Amino acid sequence: MAEFPKLTDRPEWTALADHRAQGLPHLRELFAADPGRAERYVVRVGDLHIDYSKQLITDETLALLQELAAATDVFALRDAMFRGEKINVTERRAVLHTALRAPRDAVVEVDGENVVPKVHAVLDKMAGFAERVRSGEWTGHTGKRIRNVVNIGIGGSDLGPAMAYEALRPYSARDLTFRFVSNVDGSDLHEATRDLDPAETLFIVASKTFTTIETITNATSARSWLLKAFDGDQKAVARHFVALSTNAEKVTGFGIDPDNMFEFWDWVGGRYSYDSAIGLSLMIAIGPDRFREMLDGFRIVDDHFRTTPAEANAPLLLGLLGIWYGDFCDAQTHAVLPYSHYLSKFTAYLQQLDMESNGKSVQRDGRPVEWQTGPVVWGTPGTNGQHAYYQLIHQGTKLIPADFIGFARPLPELSEELRAQHDLLMANFFAQTQALAFGKTAEEVRAEGVPEELVPHKTFQGDRPTTTVLAPQLTPSVLGQLIALYEHKVFVQGAVWNIDSFDQWGVELGKVLAKRVEPALTEGADVPGLDPSTTALVAAYRTLKNA
Ligand code: F6P
Repeated sequence: MAEFPKLTDRPEWTALADHRAQGLPHLRELFAADPGRAERYVVRVGDLHIDYSKQLITDETLALLQELAAATDVFALRDAMFRGEKINVTERRAVLHTALRAPRDAVVEVDGENVVPKVHAVLDKMAGFAERVRSGEWTGHTGKRIRNVVNIGIGGSDLGPAMAYEALRPYSARDLTFRFVSNVDGSDLHEATRDLDPAETLFIVASKTFTTIETITNATSARSWLLKAFDGDQKAVARHFVALSTNAEKVTGFGIDPDNMFEFWDWVGGRYSYDSAIGLSLMIAIGPDRFREMLDGFRIVDDHFRTTPAEANAPLLLGLLGIWYGDFCDAQTHAVLPYSHYLSKFTAYLQQLDMESNGKSVQRDGRPVEWQTGPVVWGTPGTNGQHAYYQLIHQGTKLIPADFIGFARPLPELSEELRAQHDLLMANFFAQTQALAFGKTAEEVRAEGVPEELVPHKTFQGDRPTTTVLAPQLTPSVLGQLIALYEHKVFVQGAVWNIDSFDQWGVELGKVLAKRVEPALTEGADVPGLDPSTTALVAAYRTLKNA
């Protein structure tokens, strides 16, 4: 691998640091001097109108950031990804979630094999199965139609389908119940199944590796729950369990009919997988046509990212803005604030996408990084957060760049009265970014007759950066566009930071230690090698457990 020059020694990096050290005018001044930035700092991708005019940047900042992207060859790595090269260096794997939404006639090769026909064969198999469940043709062991679908998975095998199901609920088959079980805490499965009839319940076991302990434990318990209802008749499993995995051997070992397995491949990362077979529960919910619309939405942004010049390339711009704040303005976190109740799981989904991808401290060749990498990503839907943590964003001591995501139209399903609430929701959406950017000066506060001692408390400094993403309506295509936008943004940042955004070694140690500790809890066994603090805690746990 070619040695990547140290990022912080690059002239493009030091130019940005110098630019930052000179300080930037307040957003109030930037807009006063250049009102045109409101039109200029906008990029459109598919249905997404992305306004970054309220960012703490000037034309010079943008030019310097673009020079950094050019110097770090972001587009060369992008092209290598789309070509199927093994850019996941530590696992020696291609990174081809973009092939999951490639059109039928596309050619994307991994090790000389075109993978697109395989992708479409699985999509077709999923569509056939989804239609059979939705129509009632697929029945359970006793001949009853399936009414409940329970997805068992964790991480990327849960967050994607769970988030997208919530987002697209209005498009879903309302006569079916969908639940998502991820936590190895048995109460998750208990609550998901306690009111369900086993004869009407389909379990989808979603696990790329089919070795993840949480998922296999929950799936085993679900199988027991099912078999209990059918006097242990193993034949029931074939009608009530399907698997989504890359590991046919383990799936068969678990007792799931290989015909009921929907395959994907090692070049699909877990957190990039919900548009693969992992999306089966979603496809049953919204139907194959809507699912394909969603894939088309992903593809719009893939094509944009692949072909649009740097200055108008939305994922590149958003990625570079994140680098500006994290590496040059000392921001530690990034808030994602969707103004849609349907996007209640959107930020949780992005947490895995971003933090598992870019939460790294070594470079692709193993050298330590000496710059900031991925931010803490957080947020919940507006307007709820406004009455909770926005105080800190407005008046706290921390710089928190935020993405505001909103829609022009509510979903048609709502009553007229509830639809009318949408303007109030969006009035808040626009008001918040205005308040964050422009604040309220002490003079403005005084002019309202506020007593002098309260003036500092009621002053808003402003100059808090936001990006506004506006779309016509939350449709399957728009959801696909949004997710692809963030996927590629994360890619851009990883490329500049020279980290492998596609491995996740950081989750391994905890898994190994949990396996080691478990016998101490269940059997009271002595566990060699436990540190004194954990040994004492385990002893306290045992005492409490047996009290
Ligand atoms: O947390 C680690 C991880 O490997 C994630 O990357 C992945 O999405 C999740 O576990 C679940 O893995 P699997 O789909 O193999 O069960």
